[in-house]
Amino acid sequence: MKAMVVRAPGGLDRIECAERPDPGPPGPGAIRVALHASSLNFHDLGVATGGMRAADGRVLMADGAGVVEAVGEGVTEFAPGDNVVSCFFPDWQDGAPTIPDFSRTPGDGIDGFAQEFVTLPATAFTHAPRGFTHLEAATLTTAGLTAWRALVEDGGLKPGDTVLALGTGGVSIFALQLAKLAGARVIITSSSGEKLERARDLGADETINYRETPEWGARVRELTGGRGVDHVVEVGGPGTLPQSIGAVRVGGHIHLIGVLTGRGGEVPTALLMAKQARLQGLIVGSRRQQRDFVRALDGGGLRPVIDRVFALEELSEAFRHQEGAGHFGKIGVEW
Ligand SMILES: NC(=O)c1ccc[n+]([C@@H]2O[C@H](COP(=O)([O-])OP(=O)(O)OC[C@H]3O[C@@H](n4cnc5c(N)ncnc54)[C@H](OP(=O)(O)O)[C@@H]3O)[C@@H](O)[C@H]2O)c1
Repeated sequence: MKAMVVRAPGGLDRIECAERPDPGPPGPGAIRVALHASSLNFHDLGVATGGMRAADGRVLMADGAGVVEAVGEGVTEFAPGDNVVSCFFPDWQDGAPTIPDFSRTPGDGIDGFAQEFVTLPATAFTHAPRGFTHLEAATLTTAGLTAWRALVEDGGLKPGDTVLALGTGGVSIFALQLAKLAGARVIITSSSGEKLERARDLGADETINYRETPEWGARVRELTGGRGVDHVVEVGGPGTLPQSIGAVRVGGHIHLIGVLTGRGGEVPTALLMAKQARLQGLIVGSRRQQRDFVRALDGGGLRPVIDRVFALEELSEAFRHQEGAGHFGKIGVEW
């Protein structure tokens, strides 16, 4: 069977289509899945380009969706024909987070889902939402669940809250959609006026071009009558955190998710303290959280926004499209 692997030390020209042995039938507690889709995340790009120092020949991609072909002895949660979606932390089933790294994350510490078939413990998957295509389901593992956990699980998002989403990438567009679904008001930033228009079409209430308005924290305060926002979906990291601290309300919540502007920098600690804001780092979520997220999506209120779709063999091209940062929402891969 076909698998897209990256050769050490990484690089988009070092992604190869390799022939791998079929994973075979499922043993007790396992399921065999015919995979059909994945989606790109900043993390996958890091693995592909060598930034995460993945093993030579690692099968890429944390996100995977497909159909169950066979179930092993003792598996009651799934049946052949069920549509399923993979879990970012296959070992984190429920409860408080305990895993501080990516050593067991598919497509990084272990082989991922850019391949035709896998046979894995049933607990490495959840059902896909009713009516979702494989491509849509494949956007949930990383970007979707991160936005869900931040806003709904950790943030207790409720109608009337105001959410600030930074940029129009995968996590931020899910945050926009979930916030609107929950009856919240959304302010979103982007480097592109055209993308801001598209965000308005999805329900964004206010938009800010962060290139034209570098002091966007002050603009957010203006747009909220001086109060600030309840939630900041912080995907920028050090380059955006000072503005995010300026934008959050007293007692609000900054969900520290991303590192798009770098890995370290200065934090205006006195302002953060004065804001009495919660600054919380998080990495994706547990399988139980994914099941809750899927149940919410079964209601049909949200469809993932997919910018462009590539074939499995075109994975390097898909990553180049991601590097170009012209995308809005998710980039998909389908086979
Ligand atoms: N902690 C977690 O669990 C978790 C999970 C998923 C992702 N992440 C992280 O979150 C970040 C975003 O991931 P993603 O998959 O959503 O990425 P993505 O789809 O590649 O999004 C990239 C977008 O971010 C926006 N952006 C870049 N620099 C920005 C800045 N200075 N200010 C505001 N927006 C900026 C741009 O939007 P515009 O083009 O509109 O300007 C860009 O298109 C990454 O750092 C990723 O590693 C973390």
